[in-house]
Amino acid sequence: MATYSRITGTGSYLPPQRLTNADLAIRLAATGVETSDEWIVERTGIHARHFAAPDVSCSDLGFEAAKNALQAAGLQASDIDLIIVATSTPDMVFPSAACILQSKLGIAGCPAFDIQAVCSGFVYALTVADAMIKTGAASKALVIGTEVFSRILDFSDRATCVLFGDGAGAVVLEASDTPGILASDLHADGKHVGILCVPGHVSGGKVIGDPLLKMDGQAVFKLAVGVLESAARAALAKANMTDQDIDWLIPHQANIRIMQSTAKKLKLPLEKLIVTVDQHGNTSAASIPLALDTSVRSGKIKKGDTLMLEGVGGGFTWGAVLLNY
Ligand code: UT7
Repeated sequence: MATYSRITGTGSYLPPQRLTNADLAIRLAATGVETSDEWIVERTGIHARHFAAPDVSCSDLGFEAAKNALQAAGLQASDIDLIIVATSTPDMVFPSAACILQSKLGIAGCPAFDIQAVCSGFVYALTVADAMIKTGAASKALVIGTEVFSRILDFSDRATCVLFGDGAGAVVLEASDTPGILASDLHADGKHVGILCVPGHVSGGKVIGDPLLKMDGQAVFKLAVGVLESAARAALAKANMTDQDIDWLIPHQANIRIMQSTAKKLKLPLEKLIVTVDQHGNTSAASIPLALDTSVRSGKIKKGDTLMLEGVGGGFTWGAVLLNY
């Protein structure tokens, strides 16, 4: 049985349609919704986001990211024995996006399932894959975060529709004799369900309630800043490490102000903070693997670096994964 699991390949994918803040402001103005590049950049750090074409699904984006991760790991899809997809915007109510993606990869037989922890989905999925590898239930896992949040945005609500985008990120996690994932720390507190939710559901052939995203931005902001620090500290303590051992902090890419505040609380210089939110907005469960892959491919993150991945989002859910890349 393997003692550890380790990331051996990363991949990501953004759909081709890119909207700058100015593009989005023009589009929203046509329906009487006012916003500006200045407001969006100042409050969030976001400059642009990508939107998938109407016929492109969550599993399509995840498939592209997964292919890139497999290539980076030097593996074929047929080598994979576990698929976990983190998403809140799956193709269908069921089956899972993971099963659909498995079929797109041309493989069958291995377990495939979705994890629903909204923007914390990727750190939840990585933790579950790590645990399954450590018990011997799997040896080569694809862990994917993929979202089409554009489908659940209320474009009449300027406080939320400017924040989110579509995209996917993936990693191959393999059994290893040397340490990869060092510690993780996951949490949820369901009493905060109302501050970030899509309250609609399907019943009797109809959508009941509102199927668009609702968020109390300030409440989410306040909670996020506190829990991101505590989860990182808990993961460090489990690994007998300190904040000074972190080479790169990769928080959920939602808002530059939350990310910078987390770095400050962990006493990390801003040079150690990985930032890609400017280029794709908040892509929920896809944001961490997107940021990871971008930084690996740019040469910023190198083999052996110590990474702190952190997610926070609807549920309320939050968590951290500390790893040797
Ligand atoms: O993935 C889940 C994690 N989610 C998050 O991390 C989101 C956390 N929250 C946030 O990032 C911030 O709370 C927001 C970016 C959502 C909002 O920033 P804020 O600094 O909390 O702004 P606010 O909600 O207090 O709004 C300030 C003003 C308001 O106008 P008044 O009432 O002061 O006149 C809003 O109506 O900004 C106005 N406003 C906008 N103006 C231009 C809100 N949205 C916009 C907009 N363009 N898009």
